[in-house]
Amino acid sequence: MRATDLAPRFVQLHQPSPGLSHPALIEGLMQTPAHVSPKYFYDALGSRLFDAITELPEYYPTRTEAAVFAQHGTEMARHVPSDAVLIDLGAGSCAKAARLFPVLQPCAYVPVDISVDYLRDTLAALQQRQPELPMLGLGMDFSSRFDLGPLACDWLADRGFAQQARVVFYPGSSIGNFLPHEALALLCQVHAVCQAGGAGGGLLIGVDRIKPRAALESAYDDALGVTAAFNRNLLRHVNHLIGANFMPAAWQHAAFFNEDESRIEMHLQAIGAQTVRWCGGERRFDDGERVHTENSYKWAPEAFAALLREAGFGDVLHWSDPKGWFSVFWASA
Ligand code: AVI
Repeated sequence: MRATDLAPRFVQLHQPSPGLSHPALIEGLMQTPAHVSPKYFYDALGSRLFDAITELPEYYPTRTEAAVFAQHGTEMARHVPSDAVLIDLGAGSCAKAARLFPVLQPCAYVPVDISVDYLRDTLAALQQRQPELPMLGLGMDFSSRFDLGPLACDWLADRGFAQQARVVFYPGSSIGNFLPHEALALLCQVHAVCQAGGAGGGLLIGVDRIKPRAALESAYDDALGVTAAFNRNLLRHVNHLIGANFMPAAWQHAAFFNEDESRIEMHLQAIGAQTVRWCGGERRFDDGERVHTENSYKWAPEAFAALLREAGFGDVLHWSDPKGWFSVFWASA
């Protein structure tokens, strides 16, 4: 087989476009307090920094979720259909889904990620290792709207997979990066995508839970400063997109648990007063003024199960680790 035969099909619906106006990004920068969507963390470097975060001793979600899968995977496989189209939301390195291939035996793999170049590279490497599994990469920003779109649906139909069950895999508690009403909207769209496939489909999703403040705060402010670098890298990415002149070294990483809102908040705090300019605009920041860069909601399992039902899912099952720090839900469509 020639190497080109093993190249996965890739559909790029998201164009990271330097030089364009990015009105929502600029509107967020102009507000008081300023905010930038966490989706801007994920340029190629940001995706790699996030992978490094998942290796940190303080960042418990990734290994706790992996332990839940290791402990309960066999039981999960009794509910999650095999031979399904596995749709991996926010796939990143594709590593988590690839670990499930032997258990779930999907008929096709469709990873979706906003970090287009990173996904293209990781998927090409995965396809080399698993040449027999049909793969379609979707480079798209699903934070405002998620559906598979006509190109992906045609790709599935051409391979005879239009009537296969669809399993959406959304691990890592990335759902926590949405405000609750946005999370509900996304889950409704995921439900519609599952329902458009054959019977038996659903959502397999990892959700981080409320736990003692110290454990939460150190996970988002690690001793090595990797999370701080991840947070500051957002400014580099913003500079690239809108021609801004943020100086990452002039911003301090801040992360704390907001108990009333049940969320970790990440901010960047100005070290000294400064004026930041970009193509067509500018903004003055006072010393200590913050840019809000991320929320990471921590859910009680009952509240998240209720959200899944509100989004239209039927049976909801849930597995956790012995400390009750992280949950994996299977919600049938
Ligand atoms: C991707 N997401 C689930 C991570 C989280 O924990 O909210 C992003 C992250 N931010 C800082 N560390 C990790």
